[in-house]
Amino acid sequence: MLVAKESELRGKYDIEWKITGVASRRIGWVADPNGLDPQSILNHQWPEAPAWKKCQNVRQWLAYADPSVFFEISSLERRTGQPAIDHIKAALESGAHAVSANKGPVVHAYRELRDLARSKGLKFLFESTVMDGTPIFSMFPHSLPAVELRGFRGLLNSTSNVVLTEMEKGLSFDEAVKKAQEIGVAETDPSDDLDGWDAAVKVAALAIVLMDEPLRLDQVDRTGIRALTPQQVRAARAAGMRYKLICRAERTADGVRASVRPEQLPMTDPFALLEGTTSAIRFDLDVFGLSIIEHKPGVIATAYGLLADFIRAVK
Ligand SMILES: NC(=O)c1ccc[n+]([C@@H]2O[C@H](COP(=O)([O-])OP(=O)(O)OC[C@H]3O[C@@H](n4cnc5c(N)ncnc54)[C@H](OP(=O)(O)O)[C@@H]3O)[C@@H](O)[C@H]2O)c1
Repeated sequence: MLVAKESELRGKYDIEWKITGVASRRIGWVADPNGLDPQSILNHQWPEAPAWKKCQNVRQWLAYADPSVFFEISSLERRTGQPAIDHIKAALESGAHAVSANKGPVVHAYRELRDLARSKGLKFLFESTVMDGTPIFSMFPHSLPAVELRGFRGLLNSTSNVVLTEMEKGLSFDEAVKKAQEIGVAETDPSDDLDGWDAAVKVAALAIVLMDEPLRLDQVDRTGIRALTPQQVRAARAAGMRYKLICRAERTADGVRASVRPEQLPMTDPFALLEGTTSAIRFDLDVFGLSIIEHKPGVIATAYGLLADFIRAVK
C-alpha cells in the first residue's frame, strides 16, 4: 500500500517514507536506518549486512531503525494482548507514532497506550482493528463532535457470515467451514471466529474507545455459531428469516451491556441481506441513527486503514 500510494503521498501530502525495520518471530529484528528495499521485503529477501543481527529485542531494534512511525500487525493474542502491547509501548517511548491493526492492545491497554502517546505528543491509532479501512474510530472525534453514542449493532465477523450462508445453501457445518477456508476467509484454526471471540473482541474495542467504557472481554455475553444445525439455519430461511452472528452494545444505568450471539433476522432487516465478507454496523446516536456497510473487504482494505492512520499520524 505504501508503494502503491507513493506518488499520492508525496504529491498531495508531502510525505516521503522509507522502511527502516521489519520484525517477526521467523525473520528476527531486521533493521537498516538507511532503508530496506520494499520490493525485497515483498519477496521475503532480507539483507546480508551484519548490522541488523545485533538487534536482540524490540528496544535495540527501535534504537537502530529509528522510526518515526511503528506499525504493529502481529497476530491477535486475545487473552493478554501481548507482546504487541509491550512493543507499542517501546515504540512510543522511543518517540515513534504507533499504528496498529491488532485488537489486543486496544482491548487490554487502550487507556494506558493513549495516555502514553499523549504524554509524548504522539499518536496511537488503530483504525484497521474493526471493519478494516472503514473510518470508524477516526470518524467519531472529527466528524461527530459532541455526539452521544448510546449503543450499536454490528455484523462484524466474515467467517461466521460465510459459514451460515453456505449452510443455508445445503452444506453441513464442516463443509461450510472448509468452503470458508478455501476462499481465504477463515483461518486454518477458525475457532476464534466460530466461537464468537473475534466478534467479542471487536465489540469490546468499540465499547472501550467509543463509549469510554472499561469493558473486559469476559463481560461480553458470547455465543458462537457452532451449536446451530444446518436444519435450523434452513428452517429459518424457509420461514423468511436469516441467522446472522450479531454484535450488540447498549448503554444502561449499570454500564454498557454487550453481547455476541446468533440471531434470526427478518428479511426486512438490512443486515439479513449481507453475505460473504461484507460487514456492517449501525450506531445509535442521541441525534440520529447511522449505518455503515463495508462491501467485500479484502486484505487491501486493512492495509488502507493502516495507510490512512499513517497519514493522520504524520500530518
Ligand atoms: N487480515 C486482515 O484482513 C485483518 C483485518 C483486520 C485486522 N487484522 C489484524 O491484523 C493483525 C495481522 O493480521 P494477519 O492476518 O496478517 O495475521 P497473521 O496471519 O496471524 O500474521 C501475523 C504476523 O505476525 C507475526 N507474529 C505473530 N506473533 C508474533 C510475535 N509474538 N512477535 C512478532 N511477530 C509475531 C507473524 O510472523 P511470525 O510467525 O514470523 O512471528 C505473522 O507474520 C492481526 O492482529 C489481525 O487481527 C487483520
